[in-house]
Amino acid sequence: MSEFKKSQWSDSKYSKNYRDDANIYLPYRKQFIQVTKLFYKQYIPSNTKVKVLDLGCGDGFFINELLKSFAPEEIVLVDGSSEMLENAKARLIEHTNINFINATFQDLLTNDQLAGTYDFVFSSLAIHHLNSVEKEDLYKYIYSHLSPNGYFINYDVVLPSSEKLENVYLLLWSKWIKENSEKETNEKLKGIPEQYKENSDNVPDSLESQLEVLKKIGFKNVECYFKYGIFSLFGGNKQSE
Ligand SMILES: C[S@@+](CC[C@H](N)C(=O)[O-])C[C@H]1O[C@@H](n2cnc3c(N)ncnc32)[C@H](O)[C@@H]1O
Repeated sequence: MSEFKKSQWSDSKYSKNYRDDANIYLPYRKQFIQVTKLFYKQYIPSNTKVKVLDLGCGDGFFINELLKSFAPEEIVLVDGSSEMLENAKARLIEHTNINFINATFQDLLTNDQLAGTYDFVFSSLAIHHLNSVEKEDLYKYIYSHLSPNGYFINYDVVLPSSEKLENVYLLLWSKWIKENSEKETNEKLKGIPEQYKENSDNVPDSLESQLEVLKKIGFKNVECYFKYGIFSLFGGNKQSE
């Protein structure tokens, strides 16, 4: 089993760098979130008491964006890093309907700490830290915590089908950073794609294999909804019988 404590996310400097710079170096982050919000709008009935779960919420960036347009009844944020959760609490201080849980995905799989089911389960850039078996276990876990008609959206990095394609995508990412950052910031951030590749905490699986796993578990409407290089938005829902 992979161990969160041994990963770079338990290093304070590493997680602060992410919070400071992710908005600059994540390609089309705004658009990935817009598509996610469109799915929320289209699939989650506005006249019900909606429960939302964010797995690996970081500093609460996504939920903050969601709350600008929607008013779910209850929100649960889970992250293995207490420092990330402290930042999420500070960002979301005005909202009283949020429960913050400091737990790793591995903790959830061995000792379920989530009660009931959720209408919308979101995760971004976190599940690729799990090995293939753990990913499948987590997807099953998510399915078991989805309400009838609930939707699961995962925005994550995936493994391209060849080394050549991966190099092309990493080049695309480098170009994005160069074209979307100030000269000074660019110097600091230009090595991010290579660092991502070299970091053994990152164990992405292919998009196809993850879509297959989701279908096998029972998710419906399983597809990739938006993609840029290695960055992919995919998921599925639990249709009521
Ligand atoms: C790249 S950040 C993404 C944060 C946030 N979802 C976002 O999109 O800004 C990855 C987050 O996943 C968390 N994380 C990584 N591995 C985890 C694990 N095994 N269990 C729980 N959280 C994990 C990290 O602490 C970090 O907050």
